Amino acid sequence: MSVHPVEPSAAAPRPALNLPRLRDMAARGEKLAMVTCYDATFAQLLDAAEVDIQLVGDSLGNVVQGQSSTLPVTLEHMAYHTACVARAKRQAWLVTDMPFGSYEASPQQAFESAAALMRAGAQMVKIEGGGDIAHTVRFLVDRGIPVCGHLGLTPQRVHALGGFRIQGRDEAAAAQLKADAAALAQAGAAMLVLELVPSALAREITQAHPEMMTIGIGAGAGTTGQVLVLHDLLGLTSGKRPRFVRDFTREPGSAADAPGLSVAQALRRYVVDVKAGRFPDEAVHGY
Ligand code: KIV
Repeated sequence: MSVHPVEPSAAAPRPALNLPRLRDMAARGEKLAMVTCYDATFAQLLDAAEVDIQLVGDSLGNVVQGQSSTLPVTLEHMAYHTACVARAKRQAWLVTDMPFGSYEASPQQAFESAAALMRAGAQMVKIEGGGDIAHTVRFLVDRGIPVCGHLGLTPQRVHALGGFRIQGRDEAAAAQLKADAAALAQAGAAMLVLELVPSALAREITQAHPEMMTIGIGAGAGTTGQVLVLHDLLGLTSGKRPRFVRDFTREPGSAADAPGLSVAQALRRYVVDVKAGRFPDEAVHGY
């Protein structure tokens, strides 16, 4: 028996979300629910669950292509999956990752890559990096391309970072993260993913930049919204589950042989629990 029954939303279909609507929701204190999406079927299921933001993440390298990192993912791969999702989704705001090697060389290179993703249906592009790419972020924003930054654990820099580990733990690293977030806000980034960052630091960055909606993954409960990789949320990924992930097909604390939720119910449960502040649970999922 579920503690919080999962009902489909009874409300009339929502109008398509855009940046002003997302900003209004955030300003009212509503938590934003983001999930990664790579194909048309899930784009419809995520819309039905009222997920606010669908992210065509370069995590597709891991969960779709079977790669061990996001580095082999190309601009063509990202444009293909963006078009698959864009054809099917109706309400969610659609963000697409700029893959490794598609933006670092120059602002002009970034603009051409972002334009290809926007032509495929993206409404916003996500770029990993801080002060080092602020100039590029400003270049895109000035040309009408909404930008989401990505700080903390930035998977495209996994080799430079020495693995998938929590970032910003010591004083110097925390100061650098805060400076990077300020540089992105100053450059006009409308959104910022914070990945694997101590909860207190993510909260501080969120409060310092109310104009930049923060979306946390392994960053505690103090961000504007939350994101999970779709396959993690549905309990489909093998290996040791990271601390910040919850399998939404299972009731917390339920027996291993207890019946699970359907995909549609699990997606709706994620949205309801993010909005109600039940996910993430600081004691269980925070750092
Ligand atoms: O590629 C991705 O899925 C991401 C999320 C982890 C935020 O960047």
